[in-house]
Amino acid sequence: MKKVIVLGATGQLGQDIQTETASDTIEIIPITRTEFDADIMDAAEAVKQFPHADYLINCIAYHKVDECEDNPENSFKINTQLVKLLSEFTARQQMTFVHFSTDYVFDGYDKKPYIEQDYPGPLNVYGNSKLAGEMAVKAYAEKYFIFRVSALFGAKGISSWNVNFVEKMIDAAQKKIPLKVIDDQFTSPTGTKDVAVMLKCIIKNNIDKYGLYHAVNSGECSWYQFAKKIFDICSINTEIEPVSYNQFHTHAKRPQYCSLDNSKLGSIYKMRNWEDALEDYLKLKGYC
Ligand SMILES: NC(=O)c1ccc[n+]([C@@H]2O[C@H](COP(=O)([O-])OP(=O)(O)OC[C@H]3O[C@@H](n4cnc5c(N)ncnc54)[C@H](OP(=O)(O)O)[C@@H]3O)[C@@H](O)[C@H]2O)c1
Repeated sequence: MKKVIVLGATGQLGQDIQTETASDTIEIIPITRTEFDADIMDAAEAVKQFPHADYLINCIAYHKVDECEDNPENSFKINTQLVKLLSEFTARQQMTFVHFSTDYVFDGYDKKPYIEQDYPGPLNVYGNSKLAGEMAVKAYAEKYFIFRVSALFGAKGISSWNVNFVEKMIDAAQKKIPLKVIDDQFTSPTGTKDVAVMLKCIIKNNIDKYGLYHAVNSGECSWYQFAKKIFDICSINTEIEPVSYNQFHTHAKRPQYCSLDNSKLGSIYKMRNWEDALEDYLKLKGYC
């Protein structure tokens, strides 16, 4: 039986990892904020209390992108220093460390999907703190996977809001709120369930091709195309207008083009396209 610790187990990704990965050969040990609160606890002391396991999966992040701009200390504390500590801990314990990063490590000035070897250039504090987290993993962990994910949609919804982009769109349509959605900013929408199933395959098969991977569903779209697809699948007729990225002023600058190429991961596990993952999500939630 393999033992797998999941930190941030109540988040949308953590929740799906718990449900999808548990099996008769994989025991999940969820650790929630109740047992480990990195905001208030001495993390170096707290990790010493973690049980021994084969894998430690870190789904904890401080990812309120605009808030991070005004809280660089907390961003680096959670997204970098904690990750360094977990990297050192897993190396000492000979555990495999699984960590999640983001498409926001890129500046978005390219116009073709980013590959792992592309040079990062984060535009905001969040992206910088996550990139520094990746560097900490590479420097201090021994057996590790860093999975960059993007535009996640999972049944639980993002922890602090309990919603994600899909839910926001459905909610607006149900309330008949006319929508303006960006049509010149591109991403790779990704189902958390698909990421969890990929991870299960890696753990179950003892895959040891460690390193950095883009773990997104295949394909890309603008946020407007993403919204249109949601409404098409659910046969929802709603008012939606494509607008430019320049019309939205956010506190943190965001990359305009951050679609990720998942070919490298394809040698281990082939992620399906985002439209199929989205359709399954919408069916699961009973929207179509
Ligand atoms: N969401 C996206 O679209 C997206 C895009 C790119 C990359 N990512 C990355 O994907 C990973 C998972 O994201 P997600 O969407 O699943 O996030 P999420 O739903 O917000 O989950 C984050 C989890 O971390 C826990 N957590 C946060 N701060 C903590 C702290 N200081 N101490 C202890 N626990 C803490 C949360 O607990 P509480 O519920 O108690 O707050 C929650 O369980 C993160 O690394 C994120 O950077 C996400």
